[in-house]
Amino acid sequence: MTETPSILFVCLGNICRSPLAEAALRAEAEKAGLDLLVDSAGTGDWHVGSPPDRRAQAVALRHGIDISGYRGRQVTAEDFRRFTHVFALDADNLHNLKRIRPADGTASLQLLMDMVPGREGSGVTDPYFGDEAGFDVTWDDVTRAAKAIVTRLSD
Ligand code: 4NP
Repeated sequence: MTETPSILFVCLGNICRSPLAEAALRAEAEKAGLDLLVDSAGTGDWHVGSPPDRRAQAVALRHGIDISGYRGRQVTAEDFRRFTHVFALDADNLHNLKRIRPADGTASLQLLMDMVPGREGSGVTDPYFGDEAGFDVTWDDVTRAAKAIVTRLSD
């Protein structure tokens, strides 16, 4: 039996970008009828136990998805043994994840936008210190990546 793919998205705070990536992939996988396990985490611990930023909740809701029940958590070494795929939202996150990854980690680790043709090597811009419109850009980026992940895993 093939293992169900399990995907972890990691950003800095786990209240803006990675919860939106989680929401987008859950939605795209459901549309495609693809069975996936999806979660998100942050490299930092400031927002452990907190719901997503209200602007992230708002953009998800505009796309019909309620993420008010999500709660922040910090990534752990164990995540590299539990998940099949870990995606970093930007290059700083990727750098930190390489340091956290244990020697016996089995998950693949890559930059999320590497999944999107033409966007390889780029990060999802952190919208936290910007305005509301930045969250629409985040949603667009993570949705493109989510569609690409579903396509790849459906092959
Ligand atoms: P995220 O955004 O990494 O996309 O969740 C941030 C959220 C909070 C902070 C930084 C980025 N912060 O510094 O608290």
